This record gives sequence, C-alpha cells and structure tokens, in this order.
Amino acid sequence: VQQNIHILSDRGAHFIGPGSGVLACKTVGEGRMIEPQEVVDAALSLLNKQSDLAGKKILITSGANHEPIDPVRFIGNRSSGKMGRAIAQEAVLRGAEVTVITGPADVPPPASSNVIEIQTAQEMYDAVMQHLPEADIIIGAAAVSDYRVENPTGHKQKRNGSGLHLDLTENPDIIAAVGAQKRSDQLVIGFAAETNDLIANAQAKLKKKNLDMIVANTVGTPDSGFGSETTDARFIFSNGTIDEHPLMKKTQLAERLMTQIVELLNARAN
Ligand code: PMT
Repeated sequence: VQQNIHILSDRGAHFIGPGSGVLACKTVGEGRMIEPQEVVDAALSLLNKQSDLAGKKILITSGANHEPIDPVRFIGNRSSGKMGRAIAQEAVLRGAEVTVITGPADVPPPASSNVIEIQTAQEMYDAVMQHLPEADIIIGAAAVSDYRVENPTGHKQKRNGSGLHLDLTENPDIIAAVGAQKRSDQLVIGFAAETNDLIANAQAKLKKKNLDMIVANTVGTPDSGFGSETTDARFIFSNGTIDEHPLMKKTQLAERLMTQIVELLNARAN
C-alpha cells in the first residue's frame, strides 16, 4: 500500500485521510475512511474554482458559545455554524488560507481550514487575539455570548425549592476589540443579527465596532438566521451604501460576500 501511495503521489494524485478511530477489527488507530463531507470539502478545495483570494489569510469566528452554569449546564444560543462554515468553504475555494475559531456547532468547518475549537466567549476572544496579527481579513459570523455566569459552581447544582438565581457579567466584545486595534491593511467584517430595526441597529454596530462592513441578517424567522439553510442579508458600508440581498442559500451569500471582499481589497489597492 505504501509503495502504491508513493507511485500515485509521484503522479500527482492527492490523498484524503485516512481518519482514525475504532476500526472494523475493533482496534483503535488510523485506517478509517474519513467522513464523506470531508472528502467533498477536500475535492472542492482542490478544484479551486477561482484564486482571487490566494495569499490572503482569513480569520473567521463561527458557531455558538456555551457559558457554564455548573459542570453539566450552560447558557447557549441557536447558532448552527452553517453561515461560518459556508464563508470558510468559499474562502478556501478562492485560495485563501483560512482559520476558523468555532464554538459548539451542528456542522463542522471545512476540513481544509485550520480549525480551533472553543466553548466560551472568553476562549474565543483569546484565540482571535492570538491569530489576529497574521490575519488580512477578519469576519465575525459567530453568535458570541454577550454574558457569562459570574460564578459557575464546580459541582452540579441541586434543586432546593427556591429557584435558581444567576448573576451574569458581560463578556468582551470580540469584533469591537478587533475593530479598535485593526491595522490599515486589515479588513474587518461583522454580522448583525436583528429581529427588528435591522438597518438602524446594524449601522449603529458598524460604527461602534469600527468595522469596514457589516452583514445585517434577520433572525427569529424560520427561513433566515439561526439554523436555517437560507438567509436574507444587507451589506452595509461606512459611507452609507446598502446592498440588498434577498433570501438565498447561505452558501450563495458566502459567494457574494467573498466577491464583495475582493472588490474592497481591489479598491484599496488602487
Ligand atoms: O450559525 P448559523 O445557524 O448559520 O446562524 C448564522 C448567524 C445568524 C449566527 C450569523 O449570520 C450572524 O448573524 N452572526 C452574528 C450573530 C451576532 O452575535 O450578532 P450581534 O448583532 O449580536 O453581534 C454583532 C457582531 O459583533 C457580530 O459580528 C458578532 O460576532 C460580534 N460580537 C458580538 C458580541 C460579542 N460579545 N462579541 C462579538 O464579537
């Protein structure tokens, strides 16, 4: 097998896997077929349909946060990671080097990206700050938990007949911290998840967090926002321009977002 792998590699074949885990013979180790989704991701990435982001490093936050209450309970949110995953996949396809800092999610980021898994907003903040210096483009698609439990207990809390009262304290605003310290060669893009006053709220976040652009999407409806395959969106810029994007698949929106990012980079270069 090893000789055949060498021959095929010399002829330019690419290998995906093997994965590791429990094997058919009941031992644990390398030798499993990797997940079909990872095969698809790797194949798509090899096809590399456009390379207009080649040489760019993109840092993406994705998914939810779990803020512990005690060792068995947490405060979370409904982010599935689908939007972050779609953005990461599209960026990889266009030749970028992609790092995804992901909280708990229903779908994993593409295998062809550098994946960093975290649970809490503070862990996400720390990971973002660590990778920020080398990033050209930062995209905040995660549903970051704005609050954490001030004093999570080390033991499972018992019912005591008088309810449970939690003191919550604010988490850092990750994308605002990135916006506050961004270099002139870095592009910072946030999302705004809104149930009402979409444009006004998104514009306020764009300004307050010092972003180059914000993607405003409606949440709380079955077709758009958390968990859905589709979303609506508006790309809002600091000069007041608003581009409307009707309800579409998150993968299609990710394509439009990457095209927009390339335009912003080209405009800066000229
Ligand atoms: O994961 P899916 O199920 O596919 O859902 C996708 C999504 C709805 C989560 C995504 O499209 C989206 O809107 N992500 C941002 C969710 C959010 O937290 O929005 P916000 O309006 O509360 O925050 C504005 C921006 O600040 C976001 O870029 C957010 O990542 C960032 N933020 C917010 C709070 C915080 N403490 N730190 C942050 O960095």
